[in-house]
Amino acid sequence: MPVAPNALERLVLLRLNRGPGPVLDLVGGASERAVGLALEMGVFDALADKPATLPELAEWVDCAPEGLDPLLGFLVALGYLSRDGDDYANTAMTRAWLLDDPESVAPWLRFWDEVAFPFWDEHLETAVRTGNPPQTLYEWLDDHPEHWRVTHEGFRAAAAVLAPAVIGKLDLPEGARVLDVGGGHGLYAAELAAENPDATVTVFDSEHAREVATETAEQAGAGYRIAFEAGDYTTDPLDSDGEGYDVALLFNVVHAHDGAETTALLERVHEALRPGGTLYVLDQFEGTARTALGRATVGFVGLTYLVTLGQRAHTVDDVEDWLEEAGFTVEGRESFLTAPGLSLFVAERTN
Ligand SMILES: C[S@@+](CC[C@H](N)C(=O)[O-])C[C@H]1O[C@@H](n2cnc3c(N)ncnc32)[C@H](O)[C@@H]1O
Repeated sequence: MPVAPNALERLVLLRLNRGPGPVLDLVGGASERAVGLALEMGVFDALADKPATLPELAEWVDCAPEGLDPLLGFLVALGYLSRDGDDYANTAMTRAWLLDDPESVAPWLRFWDEVAFPFWDEHLETAVRTGNPPQTLYEWLDDHPEHWRVTHEGFRAAAAVLAPAVIGKLDLPEGARVLDVGGGHGLYAAELAAENPDATVTVFDSEHAREVATETAEQAGAGYRIAFEAGDYTTDPLDSDGEGYDVALLFNVVHAHDGAETTALLERVHEALRPGGTLYVLDQFEGTARTALGRATVGFVGLTYLVTLGQRAHTVDDVEDWLEEAGFTVEGRESFLTAPGLSLFVAERTN
Protein backbone atom coordinates (compact mmCIF):
# COMPACT_ATOMS: atom_id res chain seq x y z
CA MET A 1 0.00 0.00 0.00
CA PRO A 2 1.23 3.52 -0.49
CA VAL A 3 2.79 4.07 2.92
CA ALA A 4 0.12 5.14 5.44
CA PRO A 5 1.76 6.70 8.52
CA ASN A 6 -0.03 6.11 11.84
CA ALA A 7 -1.44 8.99 13.90
CA LEU A 8 1.79 9.53 15.87
CA GLU A 9 3.92 9.47 12.72
CA ARG A 10 1.56 11.94 11.01
CA LEU A 11 1.78 14.23 14.02
CA VAL A 12 5.58 14.11 14.22
CA LEU A 13 6.34 14.17 10.49
CA LEU A 14 3.52 16.14 8.95
CA ARG A 15 2.24 18.51 11.66
CA LEU A 16 5.05 19.25 14.10
CA ASN A 17 7.90 18.90 11.59
CA ARG A 18 9.92 17.14 14.28
CA GLY A 19 11.04 14.53 11.76
CA PRO A 20 11.69 14.86 8.01
CA GLY A 21 8.32 14.48 6.23
CA PRO A 22 9.98 14.23 2.79
CA VAL A 23 11.27 10.73 3.67
CA LEU A 24 7.71 9.58 3.02
CA ASP A 25 8.30 10.43 -0.63
CA LEU A 26 11.44 8.29 -0.63
CA VAL A 27 9.39 5.35 0.60
CA GLY A 28 6.68 6.17 -1.94
CA GLY A 29 9.16 6.32 -4.82
CA ALA A 30 10.72 3.00 -3.81
CA SER A 31 7.27 1.49 -3.34
CA GLU A 32 6.28 2.37 -6.94
CA ARG A 33 9.46 0.67 -8.22
CA ALA A 34 8.98 -2.42 -6.06
CA VAL A 35 5.34 -2.89 -7.04
CA GLY A 36 6.19 -2.32 -10.71
CA LEU A 37 8.85 -5.03 -10.56
CA ALA A 38 6.59 -7.43 -8.67
CA LEU A 39 3.92 -6.96 -11.36
CA GLU A 40 6.46 -7.48 -14.14
CA MET A 41 7.75 -10.67 -12.48
CA GLY A 42 4.24 -12.01 -11.86
CA VAL A 43 4.60 -12.19 -8.05
CA PHE A 44 0.96 -11.26 -7.33
CA ASP A 45 -0.44 -13.51 -10.07
CA ALA A 46 1.68 -16.40 -8.73
CA LEU A 47 -0.09 -15.98 -5.38
CA ALA A 48 -3.56 -15.63 -6.93
CA ASP A 49 -4.79 -19.11 -5.99
CA LYS A 50 -2.92 -19.91 -2.79
CA PRO A 51 -0.14 -18.73 -0.47
CA ALA A 52 3.43 -19.81 -1.14
CA THR A 53 6.76 -19.98 0.68
CA LEU A 54 9.81 -18.03 -0.47
CA PRO A 55 11.44 -21.04 -2.22
CA GLU A 56 8.17 -21.94 -3.99
CA LEU A 57 7.60 -18.39 -5.12
CA ALA A 58 11.23 -17.97 -6.20
CA GLU A 59 10.90 -21.05 -8.40
CA TRP A 60 7.56 -19.90 -9.89
CA VAL A 61 8.81 -16.43 -10.82
CA ASP A 62 12.28 -17.72 -11.78
CA CYS A 63 14.25 -15.69 -9.27
CA ALA A 64 17.02 -16.13 -6.70
CA PRO A 65 15.43 -16.58 -3.22
CA GLU A 66 18.01 -14.26 -1.66
CA GLY A 67 17.02 -11.54 -4.18
CA LEU A 68 13.29 -12.09 -3.81
CA ASP A 69 13.37 -12.13 -0.01
CA PRO A 70 13.86 -8.35 0.57
CA LEU A 71 11.38 -7.51 -2.19
CA LEU A 72 8.73 -9.63 -0.46
CA GLY A 73 9.64 -8.10 2.89
CA PHE A 74 9.10 -4.59 1.52
CA LEU A 75 5.79 -5.61 -0.11
CA VAL A 76 4.63 -7.06 3.23
CA ALA A 77 5.57 -3.83 5.03
CA LEU A 78 3.69 -1.79 2.43
CA GLY A 79 0.54 -3.92 2.68
CA TYR A 80 0.62 -5.60 -0.76
CA LEU A 81 1.43 -9.02 0.72
CA SER A 82 0.84 -10.64 4.09
CA ARG A 83 3.06 -13.20 5.79
CA ASP A 84 1.89 -16.01 8.03
CA GLY A 85 4.84 -18.12 9.22
CA ASP A 86 6.69 -19.06 6.03
CA ASP A 87 3.70 -18.41 3.76
CA TYR A 88 3.22 -15.27 1.69
CA ALA A 89 -0.25 -14.29 0.40
CA ASN A 90 -1.84 -11.39 -1.48
CA THR A 91 -3.68 -8.90 0.73
CA ALA A 92 -7.31 -7.94 0.06
CA MET A 93 -6.14 -4.74 -1.69
CA THR A 94 -3.87 -6.70 -4.02
CA ARG A 95 -6.65 -9.19 -4.78
CA ALA A 96 -9.08 -6.35 -5.48
CA TRP A 97 -6.86 -4.20 -7.70
CA LEU A 98 -3.76 -5.95 -9.01
CA LEU A 99 -4.66 -9.42 -10.22
CA ASP A 100 -5.22 -10.28 -13.85
CA ASP A 101 -8.90 -9.30 -14.28
CA PRO A 102 -10.84 -6.47 -15.99
CA GLU A 103 -11.01 -4.41 -12.76
CA SER A 104 -7.25 -4.47 -12.29
CA VAL A 105 -5.26 -1.24 -12.23
CA ALA A 106 -2.08 -3.24 -12.82
CA PRO A 107 -1.88 -2.20 -16.52
CA TRP A 108 -2.17 1.44 -15.44
CA LEU A 109 0.78 1.02 -13.01
CA ARG A 110 2.69 -0.90 -15.69
CA PHE A 111 2.24 2.01 -18.13
CA TRP A 112 3.67 4.40 -15.53
CA ASP A 113 6.52 2.07 -14.70
CA GLU A 114 7.51 1.22 -18.27
CA VAL A 115 6.56 4.34 -20.25
CA ALA A 116 5.52 7.46 -18.37
CA PHE A 117 8.05 7.60 -15.51
CA PRO A 118 11.01 6.76 -17.79
CA PHE A 119 9.75 9.65 -19.99
CA TRP A 120 9.71 11.88 -16.88
CA ASP A 121 13.29 10.79 -16.10
CA GLU A 122 14.33 11.97 -19.57
CA HIS A 123 12.35 15.17 -19.93
CA LEU A 124 10.96 16.51 -16.65
CA GLU A 125 13.77 18.96 -16.01
CA THR A 126 13.80 20.26 -19.58
CA ALA A 127 10.02 20.63 -19.57
CA VAL A 128 10.10 22.58 -16.31
CA ARG A 129 13.08 24.75 -17.34
CA THR A 130 11.83 25.57 -20.83
CA GLY A 131 8.07 25.08 -20.56
CA ASN A 132 8.10 22.25 -23.09
CA PRO A 133 9.41 18.69 -23.46
CA PRO A 134 11.64 18.21 -26.52
CA GLN A 135 8.98 15.90 -27.93
CA THR A 136 5.56 14.79 -26.74
CA LEU A 137 4.94 11.33 -25.36
CA TYR A 138 2.77 10.58 -28.41
CA GLU A 139 5.66 11.54 -30.74
CA TRP A 140 8.02 9.35 -28.68
CA LEU A 141 5.53 6.45 -28.89
CA ASP A 142 5.35 6.84 -32.67
CA ASP A 143 9.16 6.39 -32.68
CA HIS A 144 8.85 3.42 -30.27
CA PRO A 145 5.60 1.74 -31.37
CA GLU A 146 6.32 -1.38 -29.30
CA HIS A 147 5.15 0.67 -26.29
CA TRP A 148 1.75 1.62 -27.74
CA ARG A 149 0.04 -1.56 -26.46
CA VAL A 150 1.09 -1.09 -22.83
CA THR A 151 0.00 2.55 -23.17
CA HIS A 152 -3.48 1.80 -24.50
CA GLU A 153 -3.90 -1.03 -21.98
CA GLY A 154 -2.87 1.39 -19.23
CA PHE A 155 -5.37 4.05 -20.38
CA ARG A 156 -8.01 1.30 -20.57
CA ALA A 157 -7.34 0.19 -16.99
CA ALA A 158 -7.66 3.78 -15.74
CA ALA A 159 -10.90 4.14 -17.72
CA ALA A 160 -12.28 0.89 -16.30
CA VAL A 161 -12.19 2.38 -12.78
CA LEU A 162 -14.10 5.50 -13.86
CA ALA A 163 -16.40 4.10 -16.54
CA PRO A 164 -19.33 2.97 -14.36
CA ALA A 165 -19.70 6.46 -12.84
CA VAL A 166 -19.12 8.26 -16.14
CA ILE A 167 -21.40 6.07 -18.27
CA GLY A 168 -24.16 6.52 -15.67
CA LYS A 169 -24.18 10.25 -16.44
CA LEU A 170 -24.56 9.93 -20.22
CA ASP A 171 -28.03 10.26 -21.65
CA LEU A 172 -28.45 8.67 -25.08
CA PRO A 173 -31.45 9.03 -27.37
CA GLU A 174 -32.97 5.81 -28.71
CA GLY A 175 -30.86 4.17 -31.42
CA ALA A 176 -28.09 6.72 -30.84
CA ARG A 177 -25.14 6.96 -33.20
CA VAL A 178 -22.17 7.84 -31.01
CA LEU A 179 -18.72 9.11 -32.02
CA ASP A 180 -15.92 8.57 -29.48
CA VAL A 181 -13.17 10.99 -30.58
CA GLY A 182 -9.76 9.83 -29.33
CA GLY A 183 -11.58 6.80 -27.92
CA GLY A 184 -8.33 4.79 -28.04
CA HIS A 185 -8.70 1.49 -26.18
CA GLY A 186 -12.49 1.52 -26.73
CA LEU A 187 -13.51 0.82 -23.13
CA TYR A 188 -15.99 3.70 -22.94
CA ALA A 189 -17.46 2.67 -26.31
CA ALA A 190 -17.84 -0.94 -25.13
CA GLU A 191 -19.44 0.02 -21.81
CA LEU A 192 -21.77 2.46 -23.53
CA ALA A 193 -22.81 -0.13 -26.10
CA ALA A 194 -23.39 -2.70 -23.34
CA GLU A 195 -25.55 -0.22 -21.41
CA ASN A 196 -27.52 0.90 -24.51
CA PRO A 197 -28.36 -2.16 -26.62
CA ASP A 198 -29.71 -0.10 -29.54
CA ALA A 199 -26.71 2.28 -29.77
CA THR A 200 -23.85 2.07 -32.24
CA VAL A 201 -20.47 3.61 -31.47
CA THR A 202 -17.57 4.64 -33.69
CA VAL A 203 -14.19 4.89 -32.00
CA PHE A 204 -12.04 7.42 -33.87
CA ASP A 205 -8.33 7.18 -33.08
CA SER A 206 -4.96 6.53 -34.67
CA GLU A 207 -4.32 3.17 -36.30
CA HIS A 208 -2.13 2.01 -33.38
CA ALA A 209 -5.21 1.83 -31.11
CA ARG A 210 -7.19 -0.48 -33.41
CA GLU A 211 -5.94 -3.79 -31.98
CA VAL A 212 -6.65 -3.00 -28.32
CA ALA A 213 -9.99 -1.30 -29.19
CA THR A 214 -11.09 -4.34 -31.20
CA GLU A 215 -10.15 -6.69 -28.35
CA THR A 216 -12.09 -4.52 -25.89
CA ALA A 217 -15.21 -4.55 -28.08
CA GLU A 218 -15.00 -8.32 -28.56
CA GLN A 219 -14.54 -8.97 -24.84
CA ALA A 220 -17.66 -6.89 -24.14
CA GLY A 221 -19.60 -8.98 -26.67
CA ALA A 222 -20.60 -5.78 -28.44
CA GLY A 223 -18.15 -5.93 -31.34
CA TYR A 224 -20.84 -5.79 -34.02
CA ARG A 225 -22.12 -2.40 -32.74
CA ILE A 226 -18.67 -0.79 -32.39
CA ALA A 227 -16.69 0.41 -35.38
CA PHE A 228 -13.10 1.62 -35.34
CA GLU A 229 -12.11 4.44 -37.65
CA ALA A 230 -8.42 5.27 -37.98
CA GLY A 231 -7.40 8.85 -38.59
CA ASP A 232 -6.03 12.10 -37.26
CA TYR A 233 -8.80 13.95 -35.47
CA THR A 234 -7.17 17.29 -36.26
CA THR A 235 -7.29 16.83 -40.03
CA ASP A 236 -9.37 13.82 -41.15
CA PRO A 237 -13.16 13.90 -41.54
CA LEU A 238 -14.81 12.80 -38.29
CA ASP A 239 -18.16 12.03 -39.91
CA SER A 240 -17.04 10.30 -43.07
CA ASP A 241 -20.52 9.19 -44.21
CA GLY A 242 -22.00 12.64 -43.54
CA GLU A 243 -25.03 11.33 -41.60
CA GLY A 244 -24.33 13.33 -38.44
CA TYR A 245 -23.83 11.74 -35.01
CA ASP A 246 -26.34 12.09 -32.17
CA VAL A 247 -23.70 12.08 -29.45
CA ALA A 248 -19.94 12.72 -29.38
CA LEU A 249 -17.49 11.89 -26.59
CA LEU A 250 -14.24 13.80 -26.14
CA PHE A 251 -12.69 12.03 -23.16
CA ASN A 252 -9.20 12.90 -21.91
CA VAL A 253 -8.33 14.55 -25.19
CA VAL A 254 -8.51 18.32 -24.69
CA HIS A 255 -5.66 18.29 -22.15
CA ALA A 256 -3.32 17.48 -25.06
CA HIS A 257 -4.14 20.77 -26.79
CA ASP A 258 -3.92 24.50 -26.17
CA GLY A 259 -6.91 26.84 -26.49
CA ALA A 260 -6.66 27.42 -30.24
CA GLU A 261 -6.20 23.71 -30.99
CA THR A 262 -9.01 22.73 -28.65
CA THR A 263 -11.41 25.25 -30.21
CA ALA A 264 -10.51 24.00 -33.70
CA LEU A 265 -11.11 20.40 -32.59
CA LEU A 266 -14.42 21.34 -30.96
CA GLU A 267 -15.48 22.99 -34.24
CA ARG A 268 -14.72 19.76 -36.09
CA VAL A 269 -16.75 17.76 -33.55
CA HIS A 270 -19.57 20.33 -33.86
CA GLU A 271 -19.63 19.67 -37.60
CA ALA A 272 -19.74 15.90 -37.05
CA LEU A 273 -22.85 16.17 -34.83
CA ARG A 274 -26.39 16.68 -36.08
CA PRO A 275 -28.10 19.89 -34.86
CA GLY A 276 -29.39 19.17 -31.34
CA GLY A 277 -26.68 16.55 -30.84
CA THR A 278 -24.86 16.28 -27.51
CA LEU A 279 -21.15 16.52 -26.79
CA TYR A 280 -19.65 15.18 -23.56
CA VAL A 281 -16.16 16.42 -22.66
CA LEU A 282 -14.40 14.57 -19.84
CA ASP A 283 -11.07 15.66 -18.37
CA GLN A 284 -9.10 16.68 -15.29
CA PHE A 285 -9.44 20.40 -14.71
CA GLU A 286 -7.42 22.81 -12.65
CA GLY A 287 -8.99 24.21 -9.49
CA THR A 288 -11.84 21.72 -9.12
CA ALA A 289 -10.48 19.35 -6.44
CA ARG A 290 -11.60 19.95 -2.85
CA THR A 291 -9.58 17.41 -0.83
CA ALA A 292 -5.85 17.03 -0.12
CA LEU A 293 -5.61 13.88 -2.23
CA GLY A 294 -7.67 15.54 -4.96
CA ARG A 295 -5.45 18.61 -5.07
CA ALA A 296 -2.31 16.43 -5.12
CA THR A 297 -3.81 14.33 -7.92
CA VAL A 298 -4.62 17.38 -10.04
CA GLY A 299 -1.11 18.75 -9.36
CA PHE A 300 0.39 15.42 -10.44
CA VAL A 301 -1.78 15.38 -13.55
CA GLY A 302 -0.86 19.00 -14.38
CA LEU A 303 2.86 18.25 -14.18
CA THR A 304 2.29 15.12 -16.27
CA TYR A 305 0.53 17.13 -18.98
CA LEU A 306 3.51 19.49 -19.03
CA VAL A 307 6.22 16.84 -19.31
CA THR A 308 4.37 14.49 -21.67
CA LEU A 309 2.46 16.96 -23.84
CA GLY A 310 3.79 20.48 -23.21
CA GLN A 311 0.33 21.41 -21.89
CA ARG A 312 -1.37 22.37 -18.61
CA ALA A 313 -4.57 21.17 -16.95
CA HIS A 314 -7.19 23.57 -18.35
CA THR A 315 -9.60 25.50 -16.15
CA VAL A 316 -13.32 24.81 -16.49
CA ASP A 317 -13.89 28.47 -17.43
CA ASP A 318 -11.49 28.17 -20.37
CA VAL A 319 -13.14 24.99 -21.62
CA GLU A 320 -16.58 26.57 -21.29
CA ASP A 321 -15.42 29.57 -23.40
CA TRP A 322 -13.91 27.29 -26.06
CA LEU A 323 -17.10 25.22 -26.23
CA GLU A 324 -19.17 28.34 -26.77
CA GLU A 325 -16.72 29.72 -29.35
CA ALA A 326 -17.09 26.46 -31.26
CA GLY A 327 -20.88 26.85 -31.36
CA PHE A 328 -21.99 24.71 -28.41
CA THR A 329 -24.35 25.65 -25.61
CA VAL A 330 -23.03 24.36 -22.29
CA GLU A 331 -25.84 22.53 -20.52
CA GLY A 332 -23.96 21.61 -17.35
CA ARG A 333 -20.90 20.11 -15.73
CA GLU A 334 -20.77 17.04 -13.52
CA SER A 335 -18.04 16.07 -11.07
CA PHE A 336 -17.25 12.74 -9.44
CA LEU A 337 -16.86 11.98 -5.75
CA THR A 338 -14.53 9.08 -6.54
CA ALA A 339 -12.35 11.02 -9.01
CA PRO A 340 -11.28 14.41 -7.68
CA GLY A 341 -10.52 16.94 -10.41
CA LEU A 342 -12.42 15.00 -13.06
CA SER A 343 -15.35 16.81 -14.68
CA LEU A 344 -17.82 16.00 -17.41
CA PHE A 345 -19.14 18.87 -19.55
CA VAL A 346 -22.48 18.38 -21.27
CA ALA A 347 -22.91 20.63 -24.30
CA GLU A 348 -25.44 20.82 -27.10
CA ARG A 349 -24.98 21.68 -30.74
CA THR A 350 -27.70 24.31 -30.90
CA ASN A 351 -27.13 25.57 -34.46
C1 LIG B 1 -5.40 9.94 -23.01
S1 LIG B 1 -6.01 8.95 -24.30
C2 LIG B 1 -7.74 8.93 -23.94
C3 LIG B 1 -8.39 7.65 -24.34
C4 LIG B 1 -9.88 7.56 -23.93
N1 LIG B 1 -10.65 8.59 -24.59
C5 LIG B 1 -10.01 7.69 -22.44
O1 LIG B 1 -10.58 8.68 -21.96
O2 LIG B 1 -9.56 6.81 -21.71
C6 LIG B 1 -5.94 10.04 -25.69
C7 LIG B 1 -6.25 9.32 -27.00
O3 LIG B 1 -6.22 10.27 -28.06
C8 LIG B 1 -5.59 9.68 -29.18
N2 LIG B 1 -5.06 10.75 -30.04
C9 LIG B 1 -4.14 11.70 -29.70
N3 LIG B 1 -3.92 12.52 -30.75
C10 LIG B 1 -4.72 12.07 -31.76
C11 LIG B 1 -4.96 12.52 -33.08
N4 LIG B 1 -4.34 13.61 -33.58
N5 LIG B 1 -5.85 11.83 -33.85
C12 LIG B 1 -6.49 10.73 -33.36
N6 LIG B 1 -6.32 10.27 -32.10
C13 LIG B 1 -5.44 10.95 -31.31
C14 LIG B 1 -4.51 8.81 -28.57
O4 LIG B 1 -4.10 7.80 -29.48
C15 LIG B 1 -5.22 8.25 -27.34
O5 LIG B 1 -5.88 7.06 -27.64
